[in-house]
Amino acid sequence: MLRPLVADDLDALVALDAATNPHPWSAGLWRDALARDHGTGLIDDDNRLVGFTVSSRVLDEAELQLIAVSPERQRQGLGRRLLESLLSELRRDGIARLLLEVRAGNHGAQALYAGCGGIIVGRRKGYYDHGREDALLYTFTLGGEAT
Ligand SMILES: CC(C)(COP(=O)(O)OP(=O)(O)OC[C@H]1O[C@@H](n2cnc3c(N)ncnc32)[C@H](O)[C@@H]1OP(=O)(O)O)[C@@H](O)C(=O)NCCC(=O)NCCS
Repeated sequence: MLRPLVADDLDALVALDAATNPHPWSAGLWRDALARDHGTGLIDDDNRLVGFTVSSRVLDEAELQLIAVSPERQRQGLGRRLLESLLSELRRDGIARLLLEVRAGNHGAQALYAGCGGIIVGRRKGYYDHGREDALLYTFTLGGEAT
């Protein structure tokens, strides 16, 4: 089941982020994100959080800040489900495009993005880890008005 993230998800989010993100957010960053951004959680039959997206919106653009699926549930189509659900929601709300940055070495995430219609529109040299890894900038065109 997909549902909006709420403040009570904080502990589960911190744990899932720590298990999937080389530079996990602090509890404070998560608290701010829950108050400010759009979060969607994927809940399994045992009522456990097994995936999430966090995105923000400015005018007709959205940015995907994080997407993750718990390690034991990866490669079962859940990441695609989360991303496709976000894309549909943004389309429904008239958002023109979704942007995101991803580590150049994160080939799994890039395969997911390409499979959902994302295209690479730029590279930010040395964006991660004090210059050690580039970021690739992906965009997903959602509406007819995006350029
Ligand atoms: C990226 C991530 C969210 C993908 O979630 P997932 O549930 O495993 O993805 P799916 O099972 O929906 O995969 C959909 C497609 O993406 C591609 N893909 C996903 N993970 C892949 C991997 N490790 N290697 C190669 N391709 C991969 C495949 O094309 C896959 O389709 P297939 O399984 O039919 O071949 C997950 O690996 C994850 O949480 N990673 C750690 C956090 C992260 O890196 N987030 C992205 C940056 S914020």
